[in-house]
Order: sequence, then structure tokens, then C-alpha cells
Amino acid sequence: RMDDTESIAGILLPGHLHSQQSLQYAQDFQFKEEDIVIVTYPKSGTTWMQEILTLIYSRGDDDIATTVPNWRRAPWLEHIYFKDVIIEGNGPRIITTHLPSDVLAPALQKSKAKVIYVARNPKDVAVSYYYFHKMARFLPNPQPFPEFLEKFLEGKVYYGSWFEHVKDWHSVSQTLDFFYITYEDMQKDLRRSIKKICQFLETPMYSKEVDKVEQHSNFAVMSQNSMVNYTLIPCEIMDHTQSKFMRKGVVGDWQQHFTEEQNKMFDKVFQEKMSDCDLQFIWTL
Ligand code: PPS
Repeated sequence: RMDDTESIAGILLPGHLHSQQSLQYAQDFQFKEEDIVIVTYPKSGTTWMQEILTLIYSRGDDDIATTVPNWRRAPWLEHIYFKDVIIEGNGPRIITTHLPSDVLAPALQKSKAKVIYVARNPKDVAVSYYYFHKMARFLPNPQPFPEFLEKFLEGKVYYGSWFEHVKDWHSVSQTLDFFYITYEDMQKDLRRSIKKICQFLETPMYSKEVDKVEQHSNFAVMSQNSMVNYTLIPCEIMDHTQSKFMRKGVVGDWQQHFTEEQNKMFDKVFQEKMSDCDLQFIWTL
């Protein structure tokens, strides 16, 4: 395991991808008006949104989506390689981040960049994150699932607390050009979700183009696309024998992993933590 760690605002981040310089660079970043920033807590639909935006900007043509890795066409702002990739960008740049709002919102508030926030049922996030810890060798070896779940609920995992991430970004949403969507919305009606995203981006599309975006961003297609399924990453960094990055791609897999007791505990924590948040969630289809 690569166990070097970075931290920002009390949150741990993998040292394999972050440095104090890269984090400072992210905080000081001058966004352009045309920038589109995908903001997520890990495992919430980041890669899916990267693919949808890539396809929208290529009007449904999958040439870029199938030849350029997602981390080059929608790079993570806080990662160490970001600087080299971003200066190449022109036109609407798609930028990705997992950073919490207290770290990044100030830079965004100074700009007119568009922010797309994707949230996912935290129960499914916890399960997906658990499997990701198994494969991603730059994350700590996960404990057995029950312990991992406890840590997740306490916010003592890498990238911090899911609850804080969602709540804090929601609390600054009025100060930004902000679009909120859930993984579950996209599962329920991908086409409608794509159209709503197009509206937010002020990028009208022909119905045939939307067809293509929909077709190329479905789970079966993305699972086979080496530019988004992370099979380009060597096994020493992501061990694909442990778990696939494109693992299941479904809503409600938590039901296969949680005991009744864990579910009750989760609901209790959720209610406590989210009592001061007026976001509406639709976690079941
Ligand atoms: S990361 O590491 O933060 O960038 O991960 P992220 O992309 O946010 O989340 C990975 C999960 O999203 C699922 N996924 C999809 N589901 C449905 N449809 C599509 N097209 C899709 N693309 C990615 C992926 O399978 C991970 O979820 P799990 O539950 O582990 O399968």
C-alpha cells in the first residue's frame, strides 16, 4: 500500500495524488467564465458526469470519449498532474474536484464558472467506496466492512464526511452558478438528466445528438471503455483483480451489504446530521 497522506482543512487525502503545492494551486485557481466544474464526494457519479459532459461538448460523437482518458479531458483540479493538463485546455474546460466547499467555494465565488454537483445515496456511496479501497492501493487497506461503515459515518475516511460535503456545498449553492443532480436521477431517467444538464450549460442539442450521448454514457458501454474504466492504470496502483472500477453501477446495492442493525444506525446518523439541511433526496427508484 502507498500510505503517504496529505491533508487540507482537517481532511485526509491520498498523498499519491495530492501535495501541499497542488492543493494550494487548487485554492488559488482562477476559474474562467466558460469553465464547468464537476463537484462530488467520491463514488457519487463523477466518472459518469465526466463522460456525459465530454459527450455533450462533442455533440454525441464518441471520438474523444474513446481516445482520451477521462483524467485528461476532465482533470481533477487538486491532483498533482493538473497544471500540465489544464494549460492545454481551451473552450469550455471540464474540471473535476472532490474538495470540500470551505476549501474551494471562495475561488469559485470569484468567478462565473458553472458548478455541477452530483450526489448519491450515501449508503451506496459507502459500499462503492469500500470496494474502491480494496482496489485503489493509494487508499488505506479497508477494514472489514462493518468497521469501514462506522468510519464512513464518523467522517473518518479519506476526503472526509459525506454529510459535511453535501451539506456545505448545498449551503453555498445560492452564491454560485450551481446545478444539483443525483446519481439516482440519472439512473431513473438518463435522457431527461442529459437534457437538464444541456439546459444548465445553455447548450441546446438535437434529439439525435441526445440519443448518442445517452447511448455512449450508459453503464454497459462505459464499462468497456478503457478511457473511463481505469484499466489503463497499472495493477500496482489499482488492483483490478480486487474489484472493478465500473463495479455494478446500480441503485440500492447497499441492501446486499447492510444488516438491519447497520441500516438503522445509518438512518439515525443521517437524520441527525441532515436535520439542518433542506435538500430533498430521492434515494429509491
Ligand atoms: S470516483 O473514484 O470518485 O471518480 O468514482 P465515481 O465515478 O464518482 O463513482 C464510481 C461509481 O459510479 C458507477 N458508475 C456508473 N453507474 C451507472 N452508470 C454509469 N454510466 C456509471 N459510470 C460509473 C461505478 O460503477 C461506481 O459505482 P459502483 O456502485 O461501485 O458500481
